Amino acid sequence: MGYQAGENTDQMVNNSPKRRPLPWIRLSMAAVLVGAIVVIAAQVFEKQLHHEGEDVVAGPIVPGTQFPDETFSGKDVPQPINFSHKIHAGDNEINCMFCHTYARRSKVSGIPPLSKCMGCHTTIATEKPEIEKLTAMWEKGENPKWNKVHDLPDFVHFTHQRHLKRFLFDNEELDVSDAKRVCSMCHGDIAEMTVAKKSRPLTMGFCIRCHEANEGPSDCTKCHK
Ligand code: HEC
Ligand code: HEC
Ligand code: HEC
Ligand code: HEC
Ligand code: HEC
Repeated sequence: MGYQAGENTDQMVNNSPKRRPLPWIRLSMAAVLVGAIVVIAAQVFEKQLHHEGEDVVAGPIVPGTQFPDETFSGKDVPQPINFSHKIHAGDNEINCMFCHTYARRSKVSGIPPLSKCMGCHTTIATEKPEIEKLTAMWEKGENPKWNKVHDLPDFVHFTHQRHLKRFLFDNEELDVSDAKRVCSMCHGDIAEMTVAKKSRPLTMGFCIRCHEANEGPSDCTKCHK
């Protein structure tokens, strides 16, 4: 029985004292790690450089808070129903947290279920085509399939609760009706939008600049678990 060429060669390589793979693997891993750190550092540094001088604004918007006043121009996201924040949160002054009820107590803010809409729309504007669509879904027991506007990568940990506690509920100069001023630091002026859009960058640099200005955590593991 002869050896197969491949097997033989493999053994020779594995046993050869001159060609242990381990140090090479270690070396290349170290190189990748150093490379990654350099890239991250460069990006963070670059972002900080870019916004030097005008990076945070102190504001009447949320008293006692400085936050990055950067804007971002997100695109319109198509939605199954032509829902306007301007009509609801703007003109009719419905509180953001009346619909996004989880914001105060969990990671997510949540999108309201159709039952919440129907609390008003079984009587309001029932003859309008968009409300007729809504009513048809309601009668079939369906919910509109809203598309996401914001979506951080899964490796980022974010929570609404901590931010709302710090900037709204623990802030003596604001009360619950001022919620939208706090939301606007990260979402822009949603109450004036007819279609919800991403209007702040929500990049790592954006989060970190605000944490630096307001004594938020800077530890990587707070945002990356
Ligand atoms: C009448 C209920 C209602 C009120 C009041 C309301 N929203 Fe919304 N919100 C929705 C619905 C429905 C959606 C999903 C459709 C969309 O994206 O436009 C949404 C979407 C959003 C999104 C995008 C979510 C995503 O996918 O990333 C943000 C941000 C948001 N709302 C913030 C606010 C803020 C801030 C306020 C107060 C100024 C507010 N909302 C008031 C119902 C409401
Ligand atoms: C400190 C920044 C910050 C503040 C303040 C903030 N948000 Fe958000 N919000 C985010 C980020 C970041 C996301 C994206 C989270 C993700 O993709 O995991 C988000 C996502 C959302 C979403 C999409 C669905 C969800 O539940 O995650 C809604 C709706 C929303 N925010 C509403 C609000 C409302 C209403 C307020 C004010 C009451 C508010 N946000 C305040 C940063 C903020
Ligand atoms: C607190 C009451 C209230 C709630 C809750 C509410 N709406 Fe409204 N909605 C209104 C009012 C008021 C108007 C303006 C009606 C008018 O101009 O005739 C309106 C208008 C609209 C319109 C525009 C109709 C048109 O073509 O003029 C749409 C679409 C709509 N709402 C969808 C929704 C959806 C979807 C939800 C749930 C996420 C919702 N609404 C929740 C009160 C409410
Ligand atoms: C408006 C300023 C501001 C912005 C913008 C902001 N943060 Fe914060 N964040 C804070 C402050 C201040 C705290 C500390 C809150 C406290 O004292 O409990 C905090 C706390 C946190 C915590 C809680 C840490 C813990 O101890 O559990 C996480 C996680 C976090 N932020 C992630 C983010 C991420 C991710 C972003 C960007 C998408 C972001 N934050 C944007 C101000 C901000
Ligand atoms: C305050 C929250 C926060 C802190 C603290 C933080 N990050 Fe991030 N990081 C983010 C967010 C948000 C993103 C996603 C940005 C995006 O999607 O544009 C991110 C993205 C990244 C990425 C992916 C880069 C890319 O371009 O996609 C790496 C790698 C990373 N962070 C490493 C780190 C390291 C290392 C530290 C500690 C020095 C750290 N982060 C601290 C919020 C944070």
